[in-house]
Amino acid sequence: MISPKSPGSVGLPNPNAAGLAYRAVRAESEALAAPLTPEDCALQSMPDASPVKWHLAHTTWFFETFVLAELDAHYTSFDPGFRVLFNSYYNSVGEQYPRPARGLLSRPSLGEVLAYRGHVDRAMQAVLAAGLPAESAGIVELGLHHEQQHQELLLTDVKHLFAQNPRLPVYRPTWPLTAVQPAAREWIAYAGGLESFGHRDRAATALELAAFAFDNEGPQHQAFLAPFLLASHPVTNGDFIAFIADGGYRRPDLWLALGWDAVQREGWSAPLYWRQEDKRWQTFTLHGAADLDPHAPVTHVSFFEADAYARWAEARLPTEYEWELAARDLPRAGNFVESGALHPLATRERGMPGLPQQMYGDVWEWTQSAYLPYPGFQPGPGAIGEYNGKFMASQMVLRGGSCVTPQAHIRATYRNFFPLAARWQFSGLRLARDAP
Ligand SMILES: [Fe+2]
Repeated sequence: MISPKSPGSVGLPNPNAAGLAYRAVRAESEALAAPLTPEDCALQSMPDASPVKWHLAHTTWFFETFVLAELDAHYTSFDPGFRVLFNSYYNSVGEQYPRPARGLLSRPSLGEVLAYRGHVDRAMQAVLAAGLPAESAGIVELGLHHEQQHQELLLTDVKHLFAQNPRLPVYRPTWPLTAVQPAAREWIAYAGGLESFGHRDRAATALELAAFAFDNEGPQHQAFLAPFLLASHPVTNGDFIAFIADGGYRRPDLWLALGWDAVQREGWSAPLYWRQEDKRWQTFTLHGAADLDPHAPVTHVSFFEADAYARWAEARLPTEYEWELAARDLPRAGNFVESGALHPLATRERGMPGLPQQMYGDVWEWTQSAYLPYPGFQPGPGAIGEYNGKFMASQMVLRGGSCVTPQAHIRATYRNFFPLAARWQFSGLRLARDAP
């Protein structure tokens, strides 16, 4: 639940734990921005992406608007104009500066945005130390998960920005890849049946990041699944090269109508960031240009490309229920932002036979499920109810987190969502089939 809770539904958080969680998440955002110049932080490469400076300010705006201003009618804002400038999409809060023009904001400077963060952080530390009413504790918790979402966006947006520069700038000049053996791949059979899906109503969490769930992950409910097969590993770069070599991007029979339109309109002939030089495929990473690892999961594909690949492979994408059933008993381990790779990697360990590998981390996995409300879903009242519910049309669900997702941010019930043609996230796929 992210909506404001009825009084008493969340226990008062332990002030020390709350302060620690707050400081850790806020510091991580600034650490991610640290390798960047002020010029890097100001630019916007496309309407879907935002400048780093905007991410740093907007996540601060969230705490200022929904916690500090709500708690204290006499709270002194850092700059009253920021209420519009850094409001992303909350119509209940009021006017918003147009999203595609965020890169035109040379002022406030990066230094001023960092001072804004300091102003809000000092006020937040004071209210956290004093102890929060239950409603505000829930919003602080939401604000921390919101900031983690923006940490992932910050990295994907920087990657897209750097990819526009012919000098291919390097965000992190290390490349911790090691040669790995290709994993043995198999189909794993699931019996299906009547199962429960989604997150149970949350109990008191005391700002424990691991216990949190967004409102769109509930209510928990039952659904019936027919027997199915799930691939043990995500589709790899090598797999996708075979699809391209077989004319995958030139065969309309493989594509949904809207997908074929996108191929024509956008001129797609490979995943985003791929380019071929002397018959050698290269890609762009946050470590600069790199040869494609044929054993690593393919990434930066749209839903349309994932769907076309699955059809070519005589398979299909899993539903989000199938994915969740396969993931829910697995350890939440994988290649997350903490690994430092910032890129999907081939499996480094031989997995347990009969269990799917790389369900968490590496790449968000497109599912064939439209992003819709679960039965009984109710967005909360007021502005915070705009967080997830109003986007439940024209997007598809992705599961599992990626190589730029914080580990504590993901779980089996987590529902990410993006439009069908989006490619700049670390999105990949895993195949499924109906059981024979
Ligand atoms: Fe946001």
